[in-house]
Amino acid sequence: MSLVDRFRLTVPLLQAPMAGVATPLLAAAVCEAGALGAIAVGATDAAGARAMIDELRDRTARPFNVNLFVHPAPHGDAARAAAWLERLAPLFAAQGAVPPATLRAPYRGLAEDPDMAALLLDRAPPVVSFHFGLPDAALVTALRARGVYLIATVTSPAEADAAAAAGMDAVVAQGIEAGGHRGTFDPAAPDAALGTIALTRLLVRAARLPVIAAGGIMDGAGIAAALDLGAVAAQLGTAFIACPESAADAGYRAALAGPGATRTAMTALISGRPARALGNRFTALAATLADLTPPDYPIAYDAGKALHAAARARGEHGYGAHWAGQGAPLARALPAGALVATLRDEWRRARG
Ligand SMILES: Cc1cc2nc3c(=O)[nH]c(=O)nc-3n(C[C@H](O)[C@H](O)[C@H](O)COP(=O)(O)O)c2cc1C
Repeated sequence: MSLVDRFRLTVPLLQAPMAGVATPLLAAAVCEAGALGAIAVGATDAAGARAMIDELRDRTARPFNVNLFVHPAPHGDAARAAAWLERLAPLFAAQGAVPPATLRAPYRGLAEDPDMAALLLDRAPPVVSFHFGLPDAALVTALRARGVYLIATVTSPAEADAAAAAGMDAVVAQGIEAGGHRGTFDPAAPDAALGTIALTRLLVRAARLPVIAAGGIMDGAGIAAALDLGAVAAQLGTAFIACPESAADAGYRAALAGPGATRTAMTALISGRPARALGNRFTALAATLADLTPPDYPIAYDAGKALHAAARARGEHGYGAHWAGQGAPLARALPAGALVATLRDEWRRARG
């Protein structure tokens, strides 16, 4: 049975899991409107994830997706962290603040967090998706035994092969246009930076798993185009940031409607892993910090979040982690249910 039929979707649309942005309220509104809503629990712990999953279940009886980060444990290199903080110090000073004395990872990956794995098995959400890598075989087997549908983000045919071998049910083909963190399994490996069209076609032709296209898709015409390419559905993230149900703050919303939306940039400076963000003061640092390697993800994010907090306290929003894809200027500030209905109408018109 296709993903769309299995989850009774009235439009082939997945709302992207977005850590820090996609609330249970947003996901529930998307589910109730006939698409697959999602929450991302990668940046919280098992207790936080439990609260989000339970709130979402209270808000909707329809199927939803819970998303995890599967990144390796960061290597805590004190010298690298110190060098990084030293270079950021003038930026903190300009905001009347001092950098933190040390940096720590603000959250753990799934592989390091047995409580999170236990929670997933206990709550058994209808869909679980993985970003940055694949879970271990024991967890895959256990989740499948609980009837959970498994999805992995991939950015290359090799990662898609690994996802198929690991027992995933479908892959999200994340093109270079996509907002947020690039799901590449090994960020140190060469990256062909495939766009959504080429990656989707490569994976559809290989025909191993159903393909969900993601990256730069903002409207029903884009969803129809993804299906024309052979995808079973499209996953949209940036399109949902401006929804009132999202957790985006006022600075993020203003930036999404501003000039930075026309020049998104892929940078590892904010978190330690490549991610696409609205052009702002942080992405502009690429020119001056290029000679340094940021601390491992997510340790670098500790510094990025501290700089943003210091600046925001003074009304400066230019250091926010304003993740967004290349289609950002097409974002619409509609309630999530109305956005899904609009996307469905547009998709139906576009497919003729
Ligand atoms: C604000 C934001 C946060 C994101 N956080 C996550 C996340 O926590 N987990 C995940 O798998 N993908 C995350 N992504 C990536 C999306 O899953 C998806 O690949 C991307 O949004 C598709 O591109 P688009 O933003 O152009 O629609 C995020 C994207 C954005 C824009």
